[in-house]
Amino acid sequence: MYNVLKIQADSRLDNSIKTKVKKAKFPFIKTVEEYDFSFQPEVDEKLIKELCNLNFMDDAKNIIFVGPPGVGKTHLAIGIGVKAALQRKRVLFFTTEELMSELIKANISSRLVEYIESLARIDILIIDELGYLEVNKAASSLFFKLISKRYEKKSTILTTNKPFEEWGEIFGDDVVASAILDRLLHHSYPFLISGKSYRMRELFKNTGKNKES
Ligand SMILES: Nc1ncnc2c1ncn2[C@@H]1O[C@H](COP(=O)(O)OP(=O)(O)OP(=O)(O)O)[C@@H](O)[C@H]1O
Ligand SMILES: [Mg+2]
Repeated sequence: MYNVLKIQADSRLDNSIKTKVKKAKFPFIKTVEEYDFSFQPEVDEKLIKELCNLNFMDDAKNIIFVGPPGVGKTHLAIGIGVKAALQRKRVLFFTTEELMSELIKANISSRLVEYIESLARIDILIIDELGYLEVNKAASSLFFKLISKRYEKKSTILTTNKPFEEWGEIFGDDVVASAILDRLLHHSYPFLISGKSYRMRELFKNTGKNKES
C-alpha cells in the first residue's frame, strides 16, 4: 500500500515533494491507479486520467464529485491531489467540518482576512464531505468569501453526497447556496456518480455473499 510513510521513504523523491505531500494533510493516500473503474463505469476514466495531467489547474478549473457513500469520491479527490503534490503543487485537504471550524476560529480571533488569503494561495484545495452536516449561517458566509476569493484563480476539488439542487438545505439558504454553486460550477468538471458502494462490495466479499445481492 502506497502511503505517506512510503512516500517519505522513497529515495527517488526529493525532499520538497515529500514536504508537499505531508503538508497536504491527506487523511490517507490513494492513487488514481488503485481506482477500479470497471466497478464504477459511470466515472469517465479517460477524463480522470486527463485531469491527472493537471492542466485543469492552469485555468483554475474545479472538480466536483457528487454521489452516495462509498463510490470513491474521496479516493479520486486524494488521487488527483497526490498527483499535484508530486508535481510540487501546494495542496491542502480539509473535511468540510474542519474547514468551517477553521474559518469560524479565524473570524473570532480577527484573523479572517489573513486566513482566507493564505487559503487563496493553495493551488488545490480539497473540500471533502460537503452535505453530510449542515453548515450554519455564519460559516456559510465565510465559506462563500473563501470560494469567491479563489474563483477563477485557484482550483478546488469538492466532494458531496448532495445533488446540486439540494445545496440550499446544506447552507440553510438558497441564495447563498446558489452563489457558492455558481462560482464553483462555472469552470468545472462535475462527476455525477450514482453507483454502488465499494465498501459494501468489500463487506460482501469478506462475508462470502454475492456482491450483486
Ligand atoms: N472504484 C473503486 N476502486 C477501488 N477502490 C475503491 C473504489 N471506490 C471506492 N473505493 C475504496 O472504497 C473506500 C470508500 O471510498 P471513498 O472513501 O472514496 O468513498 P466516498 O465516495 O468518499 O464515500 P463517503 O461519501 O462515505 O465519504 C475507500 O477505501 C476507497 O479507496
Ligand atoms: Mg468520502
